[in-house]
Amino acid sequence: MAAILVTGAAGQIGSELVAALRQKHGAAAVIASDVRIPITQPAGDAGPFEPLDCTRPDQVQDVVRRHSITAIYHLAALLSAVAEEKPQAAWSLNVGGLYTVLETARQYHCAVFFPSSIGAFGPTTPRDRTPQDTVQRPTTMYGITKVTGEMLGDYYARRFGLDVRGLRFPGLISHVAPPGGGTTDYAVEIFYQAIRYRHYTCFLRPDTTLDMMYMPDAIRAILELMTADPAKLAHRNAFNITAMNFSPEQLAAAIRQQIPDFRIEYEIDLARQAIADSWPRSIDDSAARQEWGWTPRYDLAAMTKDMLEKLGAKLKPAR
Ligand SMILES: NC(=O)c1ccc[n+]([C@@H]2O[C@H](COP(=O)([O-])OP(=O)(O)OC[C@H]3O[C@@H](n4cnc5c(N)ncnc54)[C@H](O)[C@@H]3O)[C@@H](O)[C@H]2O)c1
Repeated sequence: MAAILVTGAAGQIGSELVAALRQKHGAAAVIASDVRIPITQPAGDAGPFEPLDCTRPDQVQDVVRRHSITAIYHLAALLSAVAEEKPQAAWSLNVGGLYTVLETARQYHCAVFFPSSIGAFGPTTPRDRTPQDTVQRPTTMYGITKVTGEMLGDYYARRFGLDVRGLRFPGLISHVAPPGGGTTDYAVEIFYQAIRYRHYTCFLRPDTTLDMMYMPDAIRAILELMTADPAKLAHRNAFNITAMNFSPEQLAAAIRQQIPDFRIEYEIDLARQAIADSWPRSIDDSAARQEWGWTPRYDLAAMTKDMLEKLGAKLKPAR
């Protein structure tokens, strides 16, 4: 039976993507994999799991061969803040791991999904409504690995006819798995702290405006892109997509609509602030809208309401 492989499946996106893919294709058809074994699997997520280090060609090939994999959703990566702390490890996983996945996909004729990021842009990119095709000279190791990944994906598509598709995600907000060390993690942490303590100390400046997206939209975007008619995809890889745009002070105001005594303070982390300052303030996702019909469903108010409801059901306020 043909099967799908998800790498980095224990992470923030994988924890929800695996469940969505299993709902669509059946649990047995989706092989979750990660270098770490998840302690608990989210409800409805029961299905095959393979321990897998993406930087090991032998391991990737073995899993792809044994499970007759036809599509790889390659999520394993070091995120922006961690990648700046460990640039050598970031290159090795983000580029080396992707290269291993693409080479295996070439040999076994698999489709590949690869998530890029707004981090693939840099300070010389137009910062407002950043176009789909524009200057990409990122100054972070994360961004450099993402641009490399986008170009490798395009190369494998053009040179070997591989079906490589991808999205440039903005910051992702979710309540199932914690974020993995990105610059936009504040937009998740703030909800946990708002419910528990009615207070949050933010590591970005109050006016740091970035694009964001709620995880249900991100998962739907992946599924829609991977089933889009290839004849309509002029870009295929590295589509800009976005759903909402806000700063920490605007997110705090949205939370205050539901929790009136919520307070926010700021202790700026210079490293993460520098990363955020090198990224676009907003991106233009019209190519995704035109080529495969992308439309977000959650704006700031709808996401905030849903996050507080979902987390409120599982967290208790601290006394
Ligand atoms: N979360 C976001 O806001 C966001 C935004 C833009 C792009 N992305 C991209 O989406 C992808 C997934 O992001 P995420 O937020 O789920 O990340 P995450 O950090 O939550 O998860 C990554 C997973 O990869 C695993 N991993 C680490 N080294 C590995 C290895 N050698 N082999 C196999 N697995 C390994 C980790 O254990 C972890 O479970 C990444 O490529 C990331 O750059 C994420």
